Amino acid sequence: MIDMHVTLPGGLHPLTLNNPVMTASGTFGYGVEFTPYGDLTKLGGIVVKGLSLAPRRGNPMPRVAETPCGMLNAVGLQNDGVDYFVRTTLPKLPWREVPIVANLYACDPGEFGELAAVLAAEEGVAALEVNISCPNVKEGGVIFGQDPRQAAKVTEAVKMRAGSKPVIVKLSPNVTDIAHMARAVEDAGADVLSCINTLTGMGVDINTRKPLLANVVGGLSGPAIKPVALRCVWQVAKAVSIPVIGIGGITSAEDVLEFLLVGAHAVQVGTANFIRPDFVFRLVDDLAALCERMGIEQWDDFRGTLKV
Ligand SMILES: Cc1cc2nc3c(=O)[nH]c(=O)nc-3n(C[C@H](O)[C@H](O)[C@H](O)COP(=O)(O)O)c2cc1C
Repeated sequence: MIDMHVTLPGGLHPLTLNNPVMTASGTFGYGVEFTPYGDLTKLGGIVVKGLSLAPRRGNPMPRVAETPCGMLNAVGLQNDGVDYFVRTTLPKLPWREVPIVANLYACDPGEFGELAAVLAAEEGVAALEVNISCPNVKEGGVIFGQDPRQAAKVTEAVKMRAGSKPVIVKLSPNVTDIAHMARAVEDAGADVLSCINTLTGMGVDINTRKPLLANVVGGLSGPAIKPVALRCVWQVAKAVSIPVIGIGGITSAEDVLEFLLVGAHAVQVGTANFIRPDFVFRLVDDLAALCERMGIEQWDDFRGTLKV
């Protein structure tokens, strides 16, 4: 029987997960909302909804729409702000039993650093995940996740204030060369990479002649993006020496193994949480059963063993 634990090396303190199945930011609330559906301590780790320094109201409705093989969202990182999270939500989470990863969102490197400092001081926060796909940045309107120099600046700013917490940088697929981005943030001090965030997309209604989202464009997620995500994880894992967490369209234990096969140490599950709120809890059992059937006894024997 496989020992499901996963250690993500790097940083002053490696991040140890109960198993490779984490939840993806923005799709699992702050975790507490899912307690009616399963035991949170069963999960590998919980990545909470994106946090900003000040509360954010998010974008106008409608801000989510279904597509034949996934969903579009332009929620706009609505949240109550980091102080509310630290005071009210974090104490309700079983952080001693399951690693809680804070997902950070800010509009300039200084603000990212401030946010990192607040969260680094919290014992209940196991690691910081940096969302570098902010569309409203001060410096020339570039998107952090698309410019390697900007991505490196944000990574450095967070790393400087993160203390001993591991820093995970979440990469955007909306780039020409994701391996180049990955190397830039690795060089800037990232301990772990996660990929991918959503792909830019849109949907329209021919009857109303309106876009499906008030924001017109949004992020595409779900099974439609899995092949893109696998390709990104494969390219990134080959390009860097730090661990990679795979994200994108996971809906089964087989999908998890696909991401590990192309080089991921762990995965995050997003859109599937909206389809079945108990999905991730079952996925942990399904994964253990699948490993048993396939005779996989150690993650190290399987990870990155794709034959090309
Ligand atoms: C409604 C919604 C909200 C999201 N909010 C965040 C967020 O706050 N921060 C972030 O880094 N990613 C966010 N994401 C991206 C997901 O964490 C994940 O990277 C993406 O959905 C791909 O995984 P999936 O195909 O399993 O959903 C959000 C995705 C959705 C669908």
